[in-house]
Amino acid sequence: MHACVLGANGQLGRALVAARPDAVALDRAALDIGDSDAVAAHDFTGVDVVFNAAAYTAVDRAETEPAGAWRANAAGPAHLAAAAREHGFLLVHVSTEYVFDGTAPGPVPEDAPLSPLGVYGASKAAGELAVRAALPDRHVIVRTSWVVGDGGDFVATMARLARDGVRPAVVDDQVGRPTFAPDLATALLVLAGSGQHGTFHATGDGEPVSWYQLAREVFARCGRDPGDVRPVSSSEYAADKPHVARRPANSVLDLSRATRAGVAMPAWRDGLDQVLARAPR
Ligand SMILES: NC(=O)c1ccc[n+]([C@@H]2O[C@H](COP(=O)([O-])OP(=O)(O)OC[C@H]3O[C@@H](n4cnc5c(N)ncnc54)[C@H](OP(=O)(O)O)[C@@H]3O)[C@@H](O)[C@H]2O)c1
Repeated sequence: MHACVLGANGQLGRALVAARPDAVALDRAALDIGDSDAVAAHDFTGVDVVFNAAAYTAVDRAETEPAGAWRANAAGPAHLAAAAREHGFLLVHVSTEYVFDGTAPGPVPEDAPLSPLGVYGASKAAGELAVRAALPDRHVIVRTSWVVGDGGDFVATMARLARDGVRPAVVDDQVGRPTFAPDLATALLVLAGSGQHGTFHATGDGEPVSWYQLAREVFARCGRDPGDVRPVSSSEYAADKPHVARRPANSVLDLSRATRAGVAMPAWRDGLDQVLARAPR
């Protein structure tokens, strides 16, 4: 299987390239997925599967820069789906739980209605729709959440604050399950080889936590008192920050379909020490 990774310099892209070092790795400079001419002109000869890890992921900035988000997250996947139709490769496209509003009472199923709260989620939802429309029978869309593992993520930030003796205020009314980037990369490879198509969820397994609870766990593993982390509500946190996007209260995704397809997502707690080991010191 000849693979190509787009967005190869991002958090997930790097994990994919590490898992498949034989893949053709294209960062934004090598292929800008928002550029329809560049995607149409790209030579995909011999490529069986394209993993699209390229995205505009600045959730708050998207509220004031919507054109950038729509270009990468909606137009980009549409260009790639057109190329997949032409060249016959399998498109494995990555999406997010931000396509939902987070009001579901439990783990959100794959077929729940799309109802994004902000620009980032709306642009990612449009990207999903474009892929499904162009490749109705032959696409793999994988939604994930709370990706960590590259040293610049929430866990690494909390580890730094723990070491610096800071007592942070962390949001306690958004619940989810962290996803270790290498585990997500493995899941994408399994799904690509499964012969199954459609929409799947892949996140860390195990007990859901709030950001506050996750921060407490990081503080404890760093040898700090978890009591140094203060819980705040989303509205308190955003009170003095005018451009904070609304986020889903419930980010927990139902993993059933991916599990049936052969994906075994490890519990997020099992990956936490590895994430901490990668955090800059
Ligand atoms: N991070 C999370 O918590 C999270 C949660 C749920 C879902 N996801 C989804 O997971 C996927 C991977 O996210 P990530 O965490 O790896 O994000 P990331 O670290 O921000 O990586 C995204 C990469 O895409 C590149 N990119 C942006 N616009 C591009 C374009 N027009 N053409 C080509 N490349 C472009 C970026 O390059 P530049 O650095 O040059 O901009 C960056 O290297 C995305 O689809 C994201 O929506 C992420």
